[in-house]
Parts: sequence; structure tokens; C-alpha cells
Amino acid sequence: MSKVDEITRDSWIMSTFPEWGTWLNEEIENEEVKPGTVAMWWLGCTGIWFKTPGGANITIDLWAGNGKRTHGDGKMKVGHQMANMCGCRNMQPNLRAVPFVIDPFAIKQVDAVLATHYHQDHMSAEYASHVLKSGMTTVDENGNEIPVPFIGPKKSVELWQKWGVPADRCITVKPGDTIKIKDIEIVALDSFDRTCITTTDSQGADREDLHGKCPTDMDDKAVNYLVKTPGGNIYHSGDSHYSIYYAKHGKDYDIDVAFGSYGENPVGMQDKMTSVDILRMAEALRTDVVIPIHYDVWTNFKADPKEIELLYNYKKDVLDYKFHPFIWDVGGKYVYPTDKAKRQYHYRRGFEDCFEEEPNVPYRSVL
Ligand SMILES: [Fe+2]
Repeated sequence: MSKVDEITRDSWIMSTFPEWGTWLNEEIENEEVKPGTVAMWWLGCTGIWFKTPGGANITIDLWAGNGKRTHGDGKMKVGHQMANMCGCRNMQPNLRAVPFVIDPFAIKQVDAVLATHYHQDHMSAEYASHVLKSGMTTVDENGNEIPVPFIGPKKSVELWQKWGVPADRCITVKPGDTIKIKDIEIVALDSFDRTCITTTDSQGADREDLHGKCPTDMDDKAVNYLVKTPGGNIYHSGDSHYSIYYAKHGKDYDIDVAFGSYGENPVGMQDKMTSVDILRMAEALRTDVVIPIHYDVWTNFKADPKEIELLYNYKKDVLDYKFHPFIWDVGGKYVYPTDKAKRQYHYRRGFEDCFEEEPNVPYRSVL
């Protein structure tokens, strides 16, 4: 058979997806984390991989899904959180705007699977399936070998269990709880994800009526995390909106790096922090570095992170900012504090070994 005869839609998908293959899996596996540092990789959306010198590998919000792939009937479910919030019915055009940089089925070792909340772009059934089937283990505080735990707020744990993760593999956390994993200590903190408050269990016409109900269940639905590592304390704010309570977290904890969910909110929607909010969050948390995330993934919330830099430069002197932003790229690595002085990521450019071999060219001046 000729090449064109052999090719099918399935063969094309298998040969091109996930777009990065196992490139990043291999990079993470091969990374030797130096003492006193922590290595992090951005997996897209709010997905972060942490690796420490003590051999701890944890993920927060690893997700392997996408958004709209067809126009369908052009309608949103009546009880979708965005429909609940703004009273819209037309389908939001949230197409995935970044490649898949990690293959969840090729992950060889992880010590804990964490989720900040249960929205679809923050948890992965594929990853959960792989972790369970692979039989991966870690060690507990006492050095005993245990199966890899799934850690999240109550609603995340419910979703994992609905997918088939055994209850005894799940740890429900609420603000104030701490968990030790090798040389990492995780502190669960308050979330300020008000989109979660408008999220109902049912998304059909029988959705829960939220009118006049005073929400009391944020702690069940979402948490932020402080990840204490040998390289510094990393604050993951999940999909939190802006809150003045960031100032309390900043007083309660020493924060080195803070991730904030940034995006350009469409008119009629308030879901992501703006550039102003990201700077206010960083100032309130008293962090050294703030890193915007989430703005990469949805076409309809895409935002330019350079706007944060622009506004930062405008305000840093008058407000005497003690932090700086770092602009990352999906699939990129950030090592703290090694990369502390860096302001913007760039993918590795390669060709480091140029002219170590004789070029094969007609004559040198062609070069
Ligand atoms: Fe999200």
C-alpha cells in the first residue's frame, strides 16, 4: 500500500497527539533538582508539576481535556456555572488554545495528585485512571510505602470517587489542613473562586435554584494551596478571584512565588483576575514573584501577560512593589530560587553545539 492509502484519520491522530509526545515527561524524569531549590513545569491552564531535591513529585490541577470541538446546537446547558452567573444561553466559544505538553499515560512516578477544585479544566479522569492502573506508590510521613493519594476539597474527592477512585485513596482537605509528602508540606488555604459558588450539581433544567441562598460551602468546593518546599513556599490560587483576604494569607505565611489565574473576561462575565488584580494579589500576598497562569488555555479568555508587565512598570515605583512578575510559557520549566532574577521565559533554542563538527557547506562565506 502506498503512504496515502495507509493513512487514516486514526493514524493521523495517533501520530500527532499529544503534540509534545513524551518530551516533557522525559525532561521531568531526567531533571536533577539541586538542594535548596524546587523545579516546576507549567502543564497548561493551572496545571503545575513540582519536583524537589528529596524526590517528591506532585501535580496540582493536571488536566488532559479540551473545550468546544463542534458548534453542536449552539447552546449552553441551562445550569452551567457561566449560565448561572450571567443568564446566558448561547454556547461559550471556549476552544483549547494550547498544545498538550504532557502525556498523562506516560507518567512513571508521582507522589500525590492534587486538585484545587472540581471544574472540568482542573481534574483528569485519564490521569486518575493511569495512576490507579500503574500501581504507583509513595511513602508516608513514617516512611511506610502507601498508594499515591488523591488530595482535594470535598467536591473534588466526590468527583474522583464518581470516576472510580477508591475512597481510601482520597484525602479531603479544607483550609488549615496540612499534609506531608517527602520533603514537601502542603497547606490547604481558603479559595476565593466565586465561580465555584455558582456551580450547581445538576446542569439541566432541574438545576438547583440559587436565588436567596447564602453560600456557605466554598471550603467544600475549592481550596488554594501553599506548597512548602526546600526551594521556597509556592502559593497556588487555583481559580480564585481577587480577594482582600490574600493580605491575610500574606501575613500568615512566607510566600516566595504565587500563581494567579489571569484572563481577559468577556463582557458579562467575571471569572479570572485581570492584570490589576494580579498585581494587587502579589502585593497582598507579599510574594517575591508572581506568575500568571490560566490565560493560555481558553480562546475566549485569552489575555496578554505583557499587560501585567506594562502595568507593573507603571506602578512599581509609586507603590514600592517588592515583587516582580515572571511571564511563563506552557511546557516551560521554572526553578526557584535559581531563576528568581528571570522576568520572562523562553523555550530552549538549541544549537548549543554549533561548529563542534565541520559544517558541510560549499565554502565558509555562505554561512
Ligand atoms: Fe479553570
